[in-house]
Amino acid sequence: MSNAGGGSPGPFLDQALDELHRRLVLNATSYLELAHGFGRRFVARGRGGMVLVAALGAVHGLPNMAHVSASKAYVLMLGEALHYELESAGVDVMVMLPGNVDTPIIDAYGLERAELPIRPMPADAAVRETVAAFLKKRPMHIPGRLMRLMTRLVPRSRAVRMNGRMLGKAADRLAARDLAASSVTP
Ligand SMILES: NC(=O)c1ccc[n+]([C@@H]2O[C@H](COP(=O)([O-])OP(=O)(O)OC[C@H]3O[C@@H](n4cnc5c(N)ncnc54)[C@H](OP(=O)(O)O)[C@@H]3O)[C@@H](O)[C@H]2O)c1
Repeated sequence: MSNAGGGSPGPFLDQALDELHRRLVLNATSYLELAHGFGRRFVARGRGGMVLVAALGAVHGLPNMAHVSASKAYVLMLGEALHYELESAGVDVMVMLPGNVDTPIIDAYGLERAELPIRPMPADAAVRETVAAFLKKRPMHIPGRLMRLMTRLVPRSRAVRMNGRMLGKAADRLAARDLAASSVTP
């Protein structure tokens, strides 16, 4: 399982280019290298499996998370393609698309649990579901039935705007947190 990743909500143009490059390496280039390296090894031995962790934000371009959703989209496209490309070689590839799993990332992103449209799913339950989907040889999995339902039913433009607004508020909260922290520094 390739899982490392992250980002920070905020307006695209306010973020330093070198930081965006670093995030691209973390969220996309490292996945390219792992999938290529392990893919070759697994194909050579005729079996193996990979779960690439992207994000539900990969299926939409999210305002205030533009770069992260774009970098996660790379992982989604890579993993989906490899699912079909490597299956005849005995290698299973699946993409996990977490949208609202209860991990430290929620606080790090400045999101308020009470304001989220769906209560965050416990991480262990998300992992159990993901392993079950992987064993069923699915190409991708969104943890949480409600999250899957919302993804199917909410019109794309509405989902983009709704998430963009939520991430904008989160970015403001992070900025206020930083300001408060800097003002108490002696
Ligand atoms: N939780 C969600 O709802 C959600 C939503 C969308 C996407 N995701 C994705 O799910 C994956 C796991 O995130 P999480 O929710 O478990 O959040 P998390 O607790 O913040 O975990 C992030 C993981 O990435 C690792 N990491 C971050 N920067 C790294 C770097 N520069 N080099 C190596 N490792 C680094 C962290 O390692 P350390 O602990 O050593 O720093 C940690 O293991 C990430 O790819 C994230 O983007 C999660």
